[in-house]
Amino acid sequence: MRLALVLVSFVAVVLAGCSGGGVDEFGGDLYSSSCAHCHGSDLGGGIGPALGAGSSAADLTDQQIKNVVRIGPGAMTAFGDRFSEEQLESLVTFLRSEQDS
Ligand code: HEC
Repeated sequence: MRLALVLVSFVAVVLAGCSGGGVDEFGGDLYSSSCAHCHGSDLGGGIGPALGAGSSAADLTDQQIKNVVRIGPGAMTAFGDRFSEEQLESLVTFLRSEQDS
């Protein structure tokens, strides 16, 4: 009986760990609230350049994208340390998932 309980909680933990899509959604939320009004809700561009598949942003490294967000080149907002490393990471994960689709 106790073993069954242990197994059940183990499965629950594994399942929770697998719902990694949550990270993308989180990055997607950050993108919608902080980036979409300039780069387009479909990453197609607007005030800022397109960021989706085939864009030059797709050729930037993860680190370069994080730096762009911090520094805000040209007319882009400089976000400085507004985002934590985890938030920057999930933004990049979101951009990559859109660029790959
Ligand atoms: C106020 C409008 C604005 C906002 C908000 C904004 N950007 Fe930008 N972004 C720009 C502009 C304009 C550029 C082009 C800057 C330049 O090089 O002159 C740019 C450039 C970029 C680039 C480089 C693209 C390339 O092809 O080199 C990336 C990556 C990027 N933005 C990501 C983001 C992300 C992620 C966010 C949200 C956290 C964001 N931007 C928010 C306007 C904006």
